[in-house]
Amino acid sequence: MVVYLIGAGPGDADLITLKAVKILNKADVVFYDYLANDEILNHVPDSAERIYVGKKAGEHYKTQNQINDLIITQARNYENVVRLKGGDPFVFGRGGEEILALMENNIEFEVVPGVTSAIGVPTSLGLPVTHRAVATSVTIVTGHEDPTKDESQVHWDYTADTLVILMGIGNIRENTHEIMKYRDGSTPVCVIENGTLPDEKVIFSTLENISNEDINTPAILIIGDVVELYEDIYNY
Ligand SMILES: C[S@@+](CC[C@H](N)C(=O)[O-])C[C@H]1O[C@@H](n2cnc3c(N)ncnc32)[C@H](O)[C@@H]1O
Repeated sequence: MVVYLIGAGPGDADLITLKAVKILNKADVVFYDYLANDEILNHVPDSAERIYVGKKAGEHYKTQNQINDLIITQARNYENVVRLKGGDPFVFGRGGEEILALMENNIEFEVVPGVTSAIGVPTSLGLPVTHRAVATSVTIVTGHEDPTKDESQVHWDYTADTLVILMGIGNIRENTHEIMKYRDGSTPVCVIENGTLPDEKVIFSTLENISNEDINTPAILIIGDVVELYEDIYNY
């Protein structure tokens, strides 16, 4: 029994790794959530059990503890158990919590990295998050911190040239207000909705105006001069 924690990539079903596909081909059971493209399940044998464990902003179909328990139970019954997660399993994916639970229960596991939306979504558009002479550093931060924490770890005073915010739409007004304490309101912002998917939408704005836009999830925000560079390149 091995549990494979696999990154499914940012959306487009072809953006999964070859290693992930090889493991999916021999899976006995697959746990998946809403960010993993359903088409990826075509790599799984017909005989394999497919278990949806949900998880979407504001809609927690199963709690993290319930998911951990389910994976542990199936790991005791099957040879190859796959836990498929959108993007990379360790980038705001709670993959670390799942492997800790497996370790506590002496269950063997392997982690297969995935293309994270934080980098893969802008890259697929041709928007570089770093660029010589424009941005030499990037910070990836959550826009929706665990509300049960005693103290916030997100202070918005990040000094990286580019900020990439995941799960940032629900609190966009509050967050951009905080960021403007450290960055100019005219700083360029790009929002990418449903990146790498057929219904992808790209919005260009500024820190002071972006919260007035109509944005659907999942979406990421990219903040910094790379956005202006991108606009210059593509309007050339
Ligand atoms: C719970 S986090 C999981 C991130 C994932 N582990 C990763 O590496 O991409 C979910 C957030 O990722 C971002 N996201 C995931 N897929 C996306 C996509 N196709 N387009 C835009 N943003 C996406 C959104 O900010 C969304 O709220």
